[in-house]
Amino acid sequence: MVGKLKKKGNTIITAALPYANADLHLGHITSTYLPADILYRYLKLTGRTAVHVCASDDYGTPILIAAEKEGVKPSDYVAERNKRFKEDLSSLKIEYDIFDQTSSAENAKFVQYFFTKLNENRYVYVADVDQFYCEYDKKFLPDRYVKGTCPYCGTKDQYSDGCENCGRTFGPTQILDPHCAICGRTPVFKKSTHYFFKLSAFAAKLERWLRSNKNLQPEPRNYVLNWIKDGLQDWDISRDIDWGVPIPLEEAKGKVLYGWFDNHLCYITSSLKQAKKSGKAGVRYWNGSTIYHFIGKDIVYHHYLFLPSMRIGEGEYKLPDFIPTRGYLLIQGRKISKSRNWVINVRDFVQWYPADYLRFYLTRITPYAQTDLNFDWDEFREKINNELVANVGNFVYRALVFVKNKHGYVVPRRTAPGREERSMLTSLKRTATETASLVEEGHYDRALKSTLEFSTKCNQYFQHGAPWEGRRDEPRTIHYSCNFVASLSILLHPFLPSSSEEAWRQLGFIRPIAKYGWEAAKTLNVKSAQRIREPKPLFRKVEEAEISRRKEALPSGGTEISVA
Ligand code: 2FM
Ligand code: ZN
Repeated sequence: MVGKLKKKGNTIITAALPYANADLHLGHITSTYLPADILYRYLKLTGRTAVHVCASDDYGTPILIAAEKEGVKPSDYVAERNKRFKEDLSSLKIEYDIFDQTSSAENAKFVQYFFTKLNENRYVYVADVDQFYCEYDKKFLPDRYVKGTCPYCGTKDQYSDGCENCGRTFGPTQILDPHCAICGRTPVFKKSTHYFFKLSAFAAKLERWLRSNKNLQPEPRNYVLNWIKDGLQDWDISRDIDWGVPIPLEEAKGKVLYGWFDNHLCYITSSLKQAKKSGKAGVRYWNGSTIYHFIGKDIVYHHYLFLPSMRIGEGEYKLPDFIPTRGYLLIQGRKISKSRNWVINVRDFVQWYPADYLRFYLTRITPYAQTDLNFDWDEFREKINNELVANVGNFVYRALVFVKNKHGYVVPRRTAPGREERSMLTSLKRTATETASLVEEGHYDRALKSTLEFSTKCNQYFQHGAPWEGRRDEPRTIHYSCNFVASLSILLHPFLPSSSEEAWRQLGFIRPIAKYGWEAAKTLNVKSAQRIREPKPLFRKVEEAEISRRKEALPSGGTEISVA
């Protein structure tokens, strides 16, 4: 078991900030945004205070290049992207207290303060480095401003920092046949003074933290410890471009901080901005909270090394308590590739299916681990039809339709529980406790499974009670069934916010689930003679023909052979 969260106190939940140059796809949702939202919703339901923050990651050369290509100001470009992120996330009912921008004035101020502190504490130094320079454009060409041929696999048209085909990363001097991404000419090397962060000075402190923080997952902890053993390289934190947070030093005119220096500081900036709204402020608020940084495994290096070292070096802001790290999502068994259009964007998905279908399927297949996951259309259909429709949806609809048809929309009066009901109530309490512990340990997949097993029992209870036979205990079966629908709605709420609220509404409740809270799931919430609303099926079956169409919409009808 990996660490459990505290029963009291505030929790700050951050989700890795998406780069402001592409739409969100299912990979982002699976590893990061959905798990973070489940925890956030669960905590709030248990009555604890939690803030959920995210932002668009606005700086960096790819974004600057994209804005230049569209002929718009980078600040306008990222503002538009930020808006699209918010739309996409809210279409999946992923909610934030604040969805900020790393390019905000508050973040720039905080980042400059951090740089200054690190500099005063002697963790920053300067060194001259060879940089690509385009004599035609009169510009230094950092990172993605240079394209060329991969030195490992020979694929053309790759950026100077890594190859999309073979996945290797490399330094700018290694790329073959380099050319300027703006004008296509061959760049020259020119010396530039760069600022470096002394990452190497933090090896011992990082190691101590990695070993003492028992909430960290063992896998990333172990490979980060190995990286430390192999020796940490100091880190070039400056760039010669004008899109970024300016380095606050007279002699650093024209230089900005690298995006990975400023982006994670926005976790703090936006949390504090949010806290200020309720009169809480500053480092005490941060340090008094339990901190979660949800990420995908591609950014372990940054979150387990850069981020903690910078905080240790600055000295005031505490390190994360949890860094839940999950794996990559494959689509139909193959790596997501935007350039090959092997991707499913959130924007498209929500045109096809309700958000809760995706939340359900992704939660079911995503463990608390770094293993890669696979989005498979056939499995999606199977899980929706056999679990969501045939299990949860079936029970809810049957119970409510019975109240409508046989009791004129009025829930029968409560009578003392019989043997079956007592056993169901015991199982319900156990389920609520188990689901809660699994959520608190980060196992959202198993938590959902536990609640689904209770739903299976509800179906059996209904079937066994056979209310259609009109026996004497029929009103009792129906009364308790309605209560089990209510409890299921609460337990499913962090995972399926829309459909659980809809079941709740159909049961006739006026106030939302949030007003009742998690513990209410263990009790009987539906009253005698409660009037229900018109029952409607919560979910619909996914047909095979639709799935075939979805697969065909992928390149080569979904059978593309991956070169990677
Ligand atoms: O890898 C990425 O997509 C980055 N934009 C994540 C940034 S998270 C951060 F802010 F720490
Ligand atoms: Zn050029």
